[in-house]
Amino acid sequence: MNRKFKKNILCIGAGYVGGPTMAVIAAKCPEYKITVVDINEQKINDWNSGNIPIFEPGLEEIVNQVKNKNLFFSTNIEKGIEQADIIFVSVNTPTKTFGEGAGKTADLQYWEKTARSILQASRNDKVVVEKSTLPVKTAEAMERILNSGDDNINFQVVSNPEFLAEGTAIQDLLNPDRVLIGSRETPEGIKARKQIVEIYRHWIPVHKIITSNIWSSELSKLVSNAFLAQRISSINSISALCEKTGADVEEVAYSVGSDSRIGDKFLSASVGFGGSCFKKDILNLVYICESYGLYEVAEYWENVVKINEFQEQRFVRNISKAMFNTIANKKITLFGFAFKANTGDTRESAAIYVTRELLAEHALVTITDPQALDNAKIDLKDHIQQLSFESDPYQAAVGAHAIAVLTEWDVYPKLDYQRIFDSMEKPAFIFDGRNILDHRKLFEIGFNVYPVGKPHLNHF
Ligand code: NAD
Ligand code: UGA
Repeated sequence: MNRKFKKNILCIGAGYVGGPTMAVIAAKCPEYKITVVDINEQKINDWNSGNIPIFEPGLEEIVNQVKNKNLFFSTNIEKGIEQADIIFVSVNTPTKTFGEGAGKTADLQYWEKTARSILQASRNDKVVVEKSTLPVKTAEAMERILNSGDDNINFQVVSNPEFLAEGTAIQDLLNPDRVLIGSRETPEGIKARKQIVEIYRHWIPVHKIITSNIWSSELSKLVSNAFLAQRISSINSISALCEKTGADVEEVAYSVGSDSRIGDKFLSASVGFGGSCFKKDILNLVYICESYGLYEVAEYWENVVKINEFQEQRFVRNISKAMFNTIANKKITLFGFAFKANTGDTRESAAIYVTRELLAEHALVTITDPQALDNAKIDLKDHIQQLSFESDPYQAAVGAHAIAVLTEWDVYPKLDYQRIFDSMEKPAFIFDGRNILDHRKLFEIGFNVYPVGKPHLNHF
């Protein structure tokens, strides 16, 4: 062990969570040596070369501050495990696509592989921290694997789920609403929990560090995401009713959210929530409920996902209907492809569904996005011949019959829409899937404007 440092911390998984989380821990805990390992050699090379593999505001500065001082990226997983006192496991836990539970439960193959690697390479006692989002009771399976060895090594499994959101990851890590740490309530479990509390105590006030039993911690992560997504589906379901009745969803959300018992966050109607986690984590919750025979509870939560799909479908149907029920051979330009602003991540982005449906109607789709074009090309590789990609939004709009705003990038409300209008086919349409544009002004320029959950403004 490198005695220059008080403790060696390893993180397995150098992705959206592992990279930023460990960079912040390294910056706040200079006496700990932090190593991040991954099976993906290219990703590790990227972290090491300064060509950071994810776009996240503020991340590069923090990484540059600590890289090769107390933060290291490596592919040597075995060595990392051997030297570590504490191991954070932050590998991906996607929805299973095969066998029992396919389409719902978490695919734990990457997770289990890390458990076996930890067992094989360990020579001394370790605290293993669940950082990935996992089905409740996963720690039990982890413990069983870790304790199946012949060596007399003591492994303590602690749950420390991550609540950061992409695009604001660094701010969320520096100033979280809370940090949750769950463990077994045995003396060894409490001791392990304290080691994790000690890390966060470097910069997080003690009242924000919640400790709990391990199952509550695992479950709280799934439930947090389910509640957040539920709010979006709730307001999106109401946006459909607003469009039928002439009510304005922003006015409704404002009135409803002004009740302090309800709160005003996460009430922006949209084309639908995306991201790698909401759908996956809710389906995971649904599967767990079903496996305990709680079918009514499962159905309740599954509807959050169903409403999201309904919202995406509605958005495409509204485009087609407004454009005289035919979009074949019409150019439609998508402003934004990332699942939210300030990230290049496109996992489960509503834009993927929207693009596929528009292509199915034989529309000619052009995509522009400040950060997500590379990922968009990968997501749509089976349709690449039918699409065009353009980084400049003005160029992307030339000759278009319609613009659809799919990501709430800051840049879009600031564009010169007179210039855009002049370059488009007429009648020109705008479908604002994020309600971020000045609809009245666009209408006055000459656009036919279709927001989400608000009366549309058209010239015929
Ligand atoms: P990611 O895909 O960006 O990163 C996971 C990394 O793990 C990949 O680089 C992959 O190569 C690596 N990996 C997989 N198996 C491995 C193994 N056996 N050994 C070493 N490396 C391995 O995923 P992510 O977005 O960082 O998510 C990780 C976990 O955190 C998931 O469970 C997710 O639900 C949860 N989470 C994600 C976010 C988010 O904003 N993305 C937020 C909170 C929680
Ligand atoms: C979400 C949670 O917010 C994090 O707390 C959690 O850690 C993370 O999932 C995870 O477990 O992965 P993230 O998906 O990165 O974070 O981003 P959000 O800001 O939650 O947005 C998710 C989606 O909902 C985006 O598509 C966003 O545009 C959409 N959204 C959000 C709305 O449509 N309306 C809103 O009011 C808010």
